[in-house]
Amino acid sequence: MWANSLLSLLPLVVLAFAQDCEHKVKEQLVAPPRGWTLHGPAPLDHLVKLCIALPQSNFAAMEDHLYQISNPSHERYGQHLSNKQIEGLVAPRPESIDAVNEWLASHGIGGGDVGRSPAGDGLTIKIPVLLAEKMLDTSSRPSKYHVWKHTGGEYLVRTTSYSLPKTVFDHVELIQPTTIFGTFRKLKSTIHSISKTPAEDASQNAAPVVLATGVTVDPSCNSTITITCLKQLYNAVDFTPSALNPNTIAVTGYMEQFTNRADLQQFYEDQVPAAAAVHSTYRFISVNGGLNLQNGSLAGVEVNLDTHAPFIPDIGTPTNTNEPYTEWLDFVLSQNTPSVISTSYGKWRDDEQTVPLNFAQRVCQGFAQLGTVLFNQHNAYAIHDHYGAGARGVSLMFSSGDGGVGDGDPDPATQECITNDGTNSTRFIPGFPASCPFVTAVGGTVFIPEVAVPFSGGGFSNYFSRPSYQYAAVEGFLKGLPQGTYAGLFNPNGRGIPDVATQSDFFKVFIDGKAFLIGGTSASSSTFAGFVALLNNGRFRNGLSPLGFLNPLLYSKAVSGFNDITVGNNPGEFAQATKGWDAVTGLGTPDFAKLLALVTYY
Ligand SMILES: *[C@@H]1O[C@H](CO)[C@@H](O)[C@H](O)[C@H]1NC(C)=O
Ligand SMILES: *[C@@H]1O[C@H](CO)[C@@H](O)[C@H](O)[C@H]1NC(C)=O
Ligand SMILES: *[C@@H]1O[C@H](CO)[C@@H](O)[C@H](O)[C@H]1NC(C)=O
Repeated sequence: MWANSLLSLLPLVVLAFAQDCEHKVKEQLVAPPRGWTLHGPAPLDHLVKLCIALPQSNFAAMEDHLYQISNPSHERYGQHLSNKQIEGLVAPRPESIDAVNEWLASHGIGGGDVGRSPAGDGLTIKIPVLLAEKMLDTSSRPSKYHVWKHTGGEYLVRTTSYSLPKTVFDHVELIQPTTIFGTFRKLKSTIHSISKTPAEDASQNAAPVVLATGVTVDPSCNSTITITCLKQLYNAVDFTPSALNPNTIAVTGYMEQFTNRADLQQFYEDQVPAAAAVHSTYRFISVNGGLNLQNGSLAGVEVNLDTHAPFIPDIGTPTNTNEPYTEWLDFVLSQNTPSVISTSYGKWRDDEQTVPLNFAQRVCQGFAQLGTVLFNQHNAYAIHDHYGAGARGVSLMFSSGDGGVGDGDPDPATQECITNDGTNSTRFIPGFPASCPFVTAVGGTVFIPEVAVPFSGGGFSNYFSRPSYQYAAVEGFLKGLPQGTYAGLFNPNGRGIPDVATQSDFFKVFIDGKAFLIGGTSASSSTFAGFVALLNNGRFRNGLSPLGFLNPLLYSKAVSGFNDITVGNNPGEFAQATKGWDAVTGLGTPDFAKLLALVTYY
C-alpha cells in the first residue's frame, strides 16, 4: 500500500524535476578563439571561481548621471554620486537575488560560500569542475569543461558553451570564467621594447629645442625620456603640486608584476631628487594573493615603469585561471579608491573579440560606476579638509595597446587581423578595455617634435558604438579616409580609440639596479595618469572635486589643451595622424598649463 502510493507519485515528481532543471543555452562560442586547442578533459576536482553577474536594475539611469556629472557644460558637473546612491542604481531586483539564492542552495551552496559585491550584483563561488558542470549543464560535449592550450604555452580551464535552468535564466546576466578565453600569453607586460641606455651622446651639449608651441625641451629627450623631459614637453615645468592635498594614483599590477622599492629610490635619485630626499614610496595592496617580492631581478618591469609619481601600486592577481576583471572591480569599488588609476598591461589588454560581448559590456558598466562614484564611505584619512568629505570620482586610463590596428600580439608569428566568428575574415582588431567608452585610452608618440609611434594601438570597437562625446571628432577622421580603401575592415560606427596620447618610447627606468630604456603605450598610460593627478591637485586647491570620467571634458572644453599630432601613422597607414582626432594619437598630447587653466575655472 505504502510502496504503491509512493510509486504512483514518482512520475509526477520526476516530471516536475525535469521541468525545473531544464537548461537553456546562455552562451555559446562558434569556436574557441584562434590559438587555443583542446588539451584534455578538465580534472573534476579542479576548483573554478565563478563570478555570477545579476542584471543591474537601472544602469541606464546611472549612465545618465555619469554623462551629466562629467559634462563640463552641465550644471551638475563634478557632482559625483555617493557609493550608496550608486549601489541603489546597480543593485539587482529582489526577485533575481531570491531566484539565484534558491538555485545555489539547491546545489548546497549558501551563506559563507558566496561572496557578494557591495551592491549585491556580483556573486562569487568557488566550486569543483564536477559541480560547475552540473550547475551549468556542461557535462556533455561540446560544452564540457576542458583544459585548453594556447600556442603561447598557457593553459586554461574553459567551456565553449554553458546553460542555465529556466528558473534563473533571466536573473543571471552572465557567469564567468566559462567561455572567456583571455590570452594569458607571455604578455605579463605590454612593454614593446627594452634596451640598454645609450652612452651619453653629443646632443647633451646641443642647444635646447624650442617647439612650435613655444616650450623648450632638452635635446637629450629625443633619445631618452625622463620626468624632466615630460614636464618640459607637456608644459608643466612651472607647476609645483601642493603637498597639502593628498593625491594618489594607483598603478595596477597583474600576473606576477610587482614593484621594487630600491629601484624606485634609484629612479627618484636619478630623476626626482626631491622625492628621493624624503624617501617617497608607495603602499602595496595585494588582491587575491598578488606578489610583492622585493628581491632584485623578479621585479616587474612594467610596474617599475609605471611608478613615476606618489602612488599606491600593485593591485595584483597571481597567475591563475580566474578572470581578474570583476575581482578587481569589486575590490576597487569597496576601497577608498585613488582618483586616478592607470592600468596598462597583462590581462588588461585583450583582443576585444576574445572577451565575450556580454562580459565586456558588464565590465565596461563597472568602469562607468567607478567614474561616477564619489568615494566617501570609508577612510577619510587621505582627504583634505578643503574638499570636505573627499569625493573621489575616478579617472581610468588604459594603454591603447602596442599592435597598431592589429591584435597587439608581440610575437610576429602569431600576429594577425583575423576574426574569431568562424568566418576567418580579415579585420582590424581593437583592444579591450580600451574600447570601453567609459575609460580613457592612451596611445603613443615618439621624438621631439612629437610624431605618432608606429606601434600605437588604435581603431574602432566592434562591441561599443561611438559615444556622443566623440561623435564629431571621429566623423572628421572618417571623412578624411581614402574612400573605400578600408571598407569592411573596421566598424565605422564603433567607439574610436585612442582618446589621447603621450610619449611612449625610450623611457629611462631602473630594473634590478640597472638603467634601461623601455617603450610601449603602457608608458603613455602612466604618463597621462600622472598629469591627470596633477590636474586634480590643482582642482583640490580650488575646492573642486576630482575630474572623474574624463572623456566628455577632453572632447569638448579641453580640446584646446592638447597638442594635435599630425605626423606619423601605424603600419598599413589606416591610422594616419591627422589634424584633429585620429585613430593613432586621438586628440593629441597634453599641454598641462593650458589644461590646468581650463579645469580649474569652474
Ligand atoms: C629626433 O629624432 C628624430 C628621428 O631620428 C629626428 O627626425 C628629429 O629631427 C630629432 N629631433 C631633434 C630635435 O633633433
Ligand atoms: C625572492 O624572495 C622570495 C621570498 O622570500 C623567494 O621565494 C625567492 O626565491 C627570491 N628570489 C630570488 C631571485 O632571490
Ligand atoms: C579558420 O581558421 C581555423 C584555424 O586556422 C581553421 O581551423 C578553420 O577551418 C578556418 N575556417 C574557415 C571557415 O576557413
